[in-house]
Amino acid sequence: MALKASKRGCIPSFMVMDVLKAANQKKLDGEAVYHLEIGQPGTGAPRGVVGAVGSAVTSEQLGYTDAFGLPSLREAISKHYRDHYKFDVPVERIAVTAGSSAGFVLSFLAAFDIGDRVAVISPGYPCYRHILQAFGITPVIVQTDANCRFQPTPGLLETVLPLDGLIIASPSNPSGTMLLPEELGSLSDFCDVENIRLISDEIYHGISYERQEVTATSLNSDAIVINSFSKYFSMTGWRIGWMVIPPELLHSVECLQQNLFICAPAISQVAAEAAFHCNDELEKLVAQYRRNRDFLIENLPDVGFDRCAPADGAFYIYADVSAHTNNSEKFCQDILNATGVALTPGCDFDPNFGKTSVRISYAEAPDVIEQAIAQLQRSN
Ligand SMILES: Cc1ncc(COP(=O)(O)O)c(C=O)c1O
Repeated sequence: MALKASKRGCIPSFMVMDVLKAANQKKLDGEAVYHLEIGQPGTGAPRGVVGAVGSAVTSEQLGYTDAFGLPSLREAISKHYRDHYKFDVPVERIAVTAGSSAGFVLSFLAAFDIGDRVAVISPGYPCYRHILQAFGITPVIVQTDANCRFQPTPGLLETVLPLDGLIIASPSNPSGTMLLPEELGSLSDFCDVENIRLISDEIYHGISYERQEVTATSLNSDAIVINSFSKYFSMTGWRIGWMVIPPELLHSVECLQQNLFICAPAISQVAAEAAFHCNDELEKLVAQYRRNRDFLIENLPDVGFDRCAPADGAFYIYADVSAHTNNSEKFCQDILNATGVALTPGCDFDPNFGKTSVRISYAEAPDVIEQAIAQLQRSN
């Protein structure tokens, strides 16, 4: 008789990783591939990081750190809040984590019990839903569309009450849209009134083109903020991020971190601290993303993607492809096979309506984006 396997582990795949696997296989077969699927900068870590890591490897022990991270890195993160947001976040409330992904695990376990109801925005980052599901917490889908710029409103949330939590992201993945400061303010007020724990995924802060970034911790002292060195800092594989934790959850997050992860990787903590001194290089990357975005907005209509969400930030364009398909998964597979251009099907982000959308990532070098468009034009 087969041994029992847990139902909690039966969560859907993170589809973009499946697309990446297919694209990488194509590359191994010797074919050209243009990565417009994966949400990762085409560049490695900034140069200053590489230097700092080299000397740490030869001169430091690099053992376990405090569960919440190296004091100097936590100080640097606190300074980042003063410099970037003009807001004071005490060092004691900052925890360094193994990417924002570990931040979700820690915050969901610290804030919610089995059976609690947590609102997730659709379309949205699929792993919120899947991690909640694995933990026995109920993801409550809040359906958004182009009319509300794919962001939640208090009116939409009213329809799914009661809630224990709400996860937001501005800029959002996959839509790239952002909340205005007053929109974030009204969501925060709604959470206060309805006793909802706000979790703000601020991983795309630093990459915005049209709207002002506001950190949720400056508006709501009960909010958990999740951030990462993966995107703006171009350090996806280093698996390093941070959280801002409300005082009443500090002890439980610390115990969870000690028991689940011990601490974030020490070498990546050294790297992350150095990344705060690489702003010139990183701002050049943001300028490049902006140029890629402008190029795509101008050229996507030519290749049939003429209904796109307003790309305020991050490095994504979310396109409505209902004129071409009602099966975005097959649509993306066909495009990959015919042109080598890898795109992510919308159903990864939106189980209800994603069959008629695709996400286009423009984090790669400009020549890759231009070649991808040329490929799509040729196959049109
Ligand atoms: C919105 C969002 N949050 C979190 C993550 C996970 O990032 P990390 O590398 O920090 O674990 C991603 C990765 O694509 C993302 O898009």
